[in-house]
Amino acid sequence: MSGSNETWISARSGALGGEIRVPGDKSISHRAVMFAALADGMSTIRGFLEGEDTRATARAFEAMGVQIEQPSASERVVHGVGLHGLNAPAAAIDCGNAGTGMRLLTGILAGQAFDTTLTGDESLSRRPMRRVIEPLTRMGARIDAQDGGLPPLRVHGGRALAGIDYALPVASAQVKSALLLAGLYAKGETTVREPHPTRDYTERMLAAFGWPVAFSAGEARVSGGSQLRATAVVVPADFSSAAFFLVAASIVPGSDLLVREVGINPRRTGLLDALKRMGADITLERPRELGGEAVADLRVRHAKLRGIDVPVALVPDMIDEFPILFVAAAAAEGTTRVTGAAELRVKESDRIAVMARGLRTLGIAIEETPDGAVVEGGRFSGGDVGSAGDHRCAMSFAVAGLIADGDVRIGDCANVATSFPGFVELANGCGFRLK
Ligand code: S3P
Repeated sequence: MSGSNETWISARSGALGGEIRVPGDKSISHRAVMFAALADGMSTIRGFLEGEDTRATARAFEAMGVQIEQPSASERVVHGVGLHGLNAPAAAIDCGNAGTGMRLLTGILAGQAFDTTLTGDESLSRRPMRRVIEPLTRMGARIDAQDGGLPPLRVHGGRALAGIDYALPVASAQVKSALLLAGLYAKGETTVREPHPTRDYTERMLAAFGWPVAFSAGEARVSGGSQLRATAVVVPADFSSAAFFLVAASIVPGSDLLVREVGINPRRTGLLDALKRMGADITLERPRELGGEAVADLRVRHAKLRGIDVPVALVPDMIDEFPILFVAAAAAEGTTRVTGAAELRVKESDRIAVMARGLRTLGIAIEETPDGAVVEGGRFSGGDVGSAGDHRCAMSFAVAGLIADGDVRIGDCANVATSFPGFVELANGCGFRLK
């Protein structure tokens, strides 16, 4: 999809309001399909993200012989084949735009009896895979990549894996998860230690599927030789999708918006913390549990934002939210500094470069640093910006358009469908003027 040419125009709006629910969590949806496919018995998934990324993961398992039904939109019934029940796919598996899909699958495929090739779109084909290849190789896997450790990957089967004790050089839930998933197939214990705690969905879902797992902030441990048991998964709304609306309603005067049933796992909500430090008016209503995850309705009202130094400790908990944080910073009064976020350069795009280029076009003073940016709050002008085919950059520029003095034209927006199908309709429903 990247490279296809959907252009959006975002115009200045009036106050935003109403109640919305954004689509299901992407991280949880990927994992739900994977675990359900590898479990014994029939699992159900409610609230599944109907995005291109997660559908690609479902197709990958169908290609390996897993029967997946779709009784209604956002619902899946997965007929699990057991840990050793996958079959060799007839062709290469296309992971689309999804880093999570490719990295977690690599861990699973390392434990299979057959060889598989994993491919991805233009963006995914530029993303670093050595971070999973290196530790998986130490476990006994054999994985061939292109020069520089890039996809396509050839994951060889029939290898005996052994557990490892591995300290991640970079905080990454994807790498942690790939190793834990390979650990299910390995002899002995696999321990993963993180420099900063990252989202713990893999650990929590292993437990929900009945696999013994020990985990605490920054450390997780599994042993091979157990069994996943089918279960019912309920997926909360994705905090990262809600994030665009939290910032939108914060910066548009008069706004009062309710975003319902949002997952508030603390490893995801760093942006809430950052926005509150900036002066945002966001309250958590009806905090409760949904399918074992904490959720709440988030009420956000317009507030005057001020620039902050984003605490480095918050970075992993808001790693997907920097494109929209940069927009909030540009709309705030004063200076915002982001450091310790070099990972942004290897996401679906180089998110520091893409956002800096676009915001500068809109008249904002923003200086790139190797691991972050310094943003001076100001006024947005209209202008033509590129999203580099990055879903989160596209939606972030759409939010900037709400308070811009002229139309903001955003190129290459088709990839929004990877994580947020229906964004334009939902946004316009609460007051955006997006075409
Ligand atoms: C994800 C982990 C994060 C995040 C990505 C989803 C996951 O990536 O940016 O959108 O589902 O595990 P990293 O592991 O590369 O930090």
